[in-house]
Amino acid sequence: MKLDELAGARRTHKVFGPEPIPPETLLELLAVARFAPTHHLNQPWRFRVLGPETLAELKRVAGEKEAQKLDRAPTLVVASAVLTGDLVMDEEDVCASAAAIMLVLLAAAERDIATYWRTPAVLRTRPGREAVGLPPGERFLGLLHFGPAAREPSPREREPAESYVEFLA
Ligand SMILES: Cc1cc2nc3c(=O)[nH]c(=O)nc-3n(C[C@H](O)[C@H](O)[C@H](O)COP(=O)(O)O)c2cc1C
Repeated sequence: MKLDELAGARRTHKVFGPEPIPPETLLELLAVARFAPTHHLNQPWRFRVLGPETLAELKRVAGEKEAQKLDRAPTLVVASAVLTGDLVMDEEDVCASAAAIMLVLLAAAERDIATYWRTPAVLRTRPGREAVGLPPGERFLGLLHFGPAAREPSPREREPAESYVEFLA
């Protein structure tokens, strides 16, 4: 599939089948992250694959309502960026890590694996961060959901390129 088509085919899924992604397939997807550009070649992205005990602890600190949402997908991965405290470098490293996440989502789409990039509030709290082992020096970027698609998302509308592209003199 051409990249244009793949980018168009990637969608946010909110209903997943129960079968987890095998660890070797997940590692294959996460390995694609390393091809993202980074200014200092420092590969600032981090991915933590949640095991059952970690998920149980996250659900405990999240509370009952949010805990239900954490059961939507069979495989969950916390994505973050390592920060240094240098504001310019941190901004670049967050951008690089977001690019790395996007590569992972595209690699999943290419394999017909459904994904959902979500930013639940619990992972911005201290107990939530501690539950998934996020150290203070890392910026939480997303809780990535993976699994088989159980329901196709409704068609999306996007503004054409002309609405956000400007050719300057
Ligand atoms: C940084 C980031 C955070 C997101 N967080 C959420 C979220 O917390 N909840 C949610 O429903 N969708 C979240 N999304 C998914 C977007 O809502 C979704 O990409 C958008 O609706 C477009 O749909 P599509 O991905 O199918 O094109 C997030 C996307 C990004 C890039």
